[in-house]
Amino acid sequence: MRMVDLIIKKREGLALSKEEIAFWISGYVKNEIPDYQTSAMLMAIIFQGMTEEEVINLTSLMEHSGQTLDLSVLKGVKVDKHSTGGVGDKTSLVLGPMVAACGATVAKLSGRGLGHTGGTLDKLESIPGFNVQINGERFVKQVNDIGIILAGQTASLVPADKKMYALRDVTGTVESIPLIAASIMSKKLAAGTDTILLDVTVGNGAFMKDIIQAETLAKLMVKIGKGLNRDTRAVLSNMDEPLGLAVGNALEVKEAISALKGNGPEDLMELCYTCGSIMLMQAKLANSFEEAKMKLERVIKDGSAFNLFVKMVEAQSGDISYILNPDKFIVADKIIPVLAKTSGYIKTIEALDIGVSSMRLGGGRATIEDVIDMSAGIVLNKKVGDKVEKNDVLCYLHTNKDDKEIASIIGDVEKAFVIVPEFVAKHKVILEIIE
Ligand code: URA
Repeated sequence: MRMVDLIIKKREGLALSKEEIAFWISGYVKNEIPDYQTSAMLMAIIFQGMTEEEVINLTSLMEHSGQTLDLSVLKGVKVDKHSTGGVGDKTSLVLGPMVAACGATVAKLSGRGLGHTGGTLDKLESIPGFNVQINGERFVKQVNDIGIILAGQTASLVPADKKMYALRDVTGTVESIPLIAASIMSKKLAAGTDTILLDVTVGNGAFMKDIIQAETLAKLMVKIGKGLNRDTRAVLSNMDEPLGLAVGNALEVKEAISALKGNGPEDLMELCYTCGSIMLMQAKLANSFEEAKMKLERVIKDGSAFNLFVKMVEAQSGDISYILNPDKFIVADKIIPVLAKTSGYIKTIEALDIGVSSMRLGGGRATIEDVIDMSAGIVLNKKVGDKVEKNDVLCYLHTNKDDKEIASIIGDVEKAFVIVPEFVAKHKVILEIIE
């Protein structure tokens, strides 16, 4: 078999067999097939797409390109949730303890933030001492003892995706639904979970800008998961404005703590209750959405979800005094209000612009080597649909940057808020559920 023939075959719009995809992926991982040939193949896929059978084969071959986790030693049904990324998305921090407190097993491998989206690991590391590198026996013991761990991915999982994602990033080949689906699902499947819930975000702060694209991606991922014998479902959620109020690492952890204590923002809680209810049904811990939601409401009200978060932080060497007293979290030197220039109703809060501005304030990374300022970010004071008067505070910038840099960011944040004279309804959080 020759790689050039496979590239030509795909370029001509023909489907690749499982053996042909295996030849490509295994050769690529072993460095026998060079980046330039994989780039050409990726570009051919961008234009010609893939059949469902091809995507299922690609996913399975990527999944098995390195180590896969066997979680069968862990007690209970292992549930997992994956978001395709957003701004202010601290769902895992709240949802994980909620479903674990209801009896599901949460052994979640998370990632770091890059660009305008945040990462769960970075957020957790704003808790002094918190250790995300937990492997082997300690990983198993923690999950079996308390039912939850939020940890970092090991380097040996899905090497094909690691190499290919870096290549896609620099060759204009990220935006392909088959490639995104295979990339996400190969990692979820390799992580060994019993059930997968995909939160496919839709809107200007998300990968998928419109609902049709998001629906296509979600349905394809559900089909791949089911095709590979995993209970896989998806929620389409709105990412036209940031989720909740806080954007930035320590700021989001503080918001997650409030949410676990029953004081979470409405949109964040609706997403957590919807995802959590589906996950409990997937784990057969509830027979209906209503029963699941009642269980989740109970663990928020009686404090057991919050207590489990404290236990998890303790088990992962974090300083729990910060969780018990969130005022201890690091605070930026400058907290700057951004004011409304006119009166009216908030029509849009461009999530992408808020995410990029938070990153520029120090809260995120432009390159993988950048060091994050845990205290930096943006806290919204208004959401879409809110009425504002001129000079009302729209949001607060938290930063340690110098004034010159801050001045240009303020302009971008002001522009991210679109204020109109007529009434605007609040955004719907959950757009669709796909089972
Ligand atoms: N997230 C991933 O993990 N892979 C993609 O291709 C896109 C988003």
